[in-house]
Amino acid sequence: MNPELEERLKRFGQSHLLRFWDELSDPERARLIDQLERFDFGLIETLFSQAAADEHWEQLAEKAIVPPAITLDDFANANSYDKAYRIGTSALEAGKIGMILVAGGQGTRLGFDYPKGMFPIGPVSDRTLYQVHFEHVLGRSRQFGTTIPLYVMTSPPTHDETTRFLTEHDFFGIAPENVKIFCQGVMPAVDEHGKLLLEEKGKVFVSPDGHGGTLAALVNSGCLADAQQRGVEHLFYGQVDNPMIQICDPALIGYHLHSGSEMTSQVVRKNEPTQKVGNVVEVDGKVHIIEYSDLPEKYARQTNADGSLKLWAGSIAVHVFSVDFLQRSSDRADSLPFHRAIKKVAFLDDTGQRITPEQPNALKFERFIFDLLPFAENAIVCEVDPADGFCAVKNAPPAEAETPQHVKQAISDLHARWLSAAGVSVAPGVTVEISPLFAPDAATLKEKVDPGTTITRATYFK
Ligand code: UTP
Repeated sequence: MNPELEERLKRFGQSHLLRFWDELSDPERARLIDQLERFDFGLIETLFSQAAADEHWEQLAEKAIVPPAITLDDFANANSYDKAYRIGTSALEAGKIGMILVAGGQGTRLGFDYPKGMFPIGPVSDRTLYQVHFEHVLGRSRQFGTTIPLYVMTSPPTHDETTRFLTEHDFFGIAPENVKIFCQGVMPAVDEHGKLLLEEKGKVFVSPDGHGGTLAALVNSGCLADAQQRGVEHLFYGQVDNPMIQICDPALIGYHLHSGSEMTSQVVRKNEPTQKVGNVVEVDGKVHIIEYSDLPEKYARQTNADGSLKLWAGSIAVHVFSVDFLQRSSDRADSLPFHRAIKKVAFLDDTGQRITPEQPNALKFERFIFDLLPFAENAIVCEVDPADGFCAVKNAPPAEAETPQHVKQAISDLHARWLSAAGVSVAPGVTVEISPLFAPDAATLKEKVDPGTTITRATYFK
């Protein structure tokens, strides 16, 4: 054992991580040392001992207003919408747009045995979340006669399986040179005394470092440089668990470009003051997102004179980033703050017995991508109707929301509305689904179906 490392562990009160050293094989020892060498124990100690940041959120919340927003009224205004659509279309046609799909989370609430992107979500087709997103990127590329490179972020727990799955499925039709899979970093978790946890006798428990790890991973993997080399100027960002993302929506991109925004965020009007979404706010001219769990309830419940919610904008984790902004922010990648969350983590006790806790027992540290927002120039928010763009798979049944069943229903309802707008009726209770390769949006669908018909059984348009 390296005496310097042993001394460091002692100094930071983490010597228990070597408790089973004598029982380990040489390869296991080498792996453990490699893992321990990478940890910044000083940082972990600081994060653990940091007082909860309640005061910080209170101060922000006190001054918070809603930032200038492009609302549903703007999207419904033909002049405004057409102009944005044209601007976005030109950027897409010129190959200036790429897509980042983050899929490094462990999907613990869903309890699925594979990476969440492999979860079957198509209400008729059973397509996986990955297939839905990949086909959407491909459908958009074809729609605008362009190439949209796709950058998929995995994490050590999801990387190998995801790479195997996507390769086996030929990237669902996207040319392999236009798909880059890159892996984010990890962070250890600590117990109530600030001690790191052992997952195995020779392995410390670690988990992905949050979607805020995207920036560092984009830079370290060379994916940001790849985008720049291709002439990509803006990256559309979405998370794998929301199959309803309006991927590379030309109007959203157009509003982003027209406002000279370096980071645009799509938002929904919150359905209740304490809805579990990040609150998009403006403080002293800068846009911030305050997590629902950090926003004191009295601020969440504030209303305007007409009774409407003051802080109405909820983030759905869809953003458009300027590549220059990401490049400029790359120095900041390692200094984005860590947020703390108390979670259940199984661990080995002093005797080497595996304990699966009933109650949350560990502090996890995660970075959030939206902490880049206050540094972005001209950041704007764009409203979307949740029925058109937001329903994420989070929970296993029998949860009351965000279960696969809810999401499948939301997809079918959306596509039934597209069909109805195209003059096709869907009989009550009938499930429908439209592949983005058939039509990536309602307007395209209109040109492809015969009005006046009625769908009477489950139908998948592909
Ligand atoms: P969530 O925080 O909802 O996590 O991530 P999750 O993994 O889907 O589910 P739980 O909380 O373990 O049940 C929202 C999105 O951000 C991605 C996830 O893959 C998901 O698409 N994410 C999250 C990452 O890419 N990396 C992370 O470290 C965390």
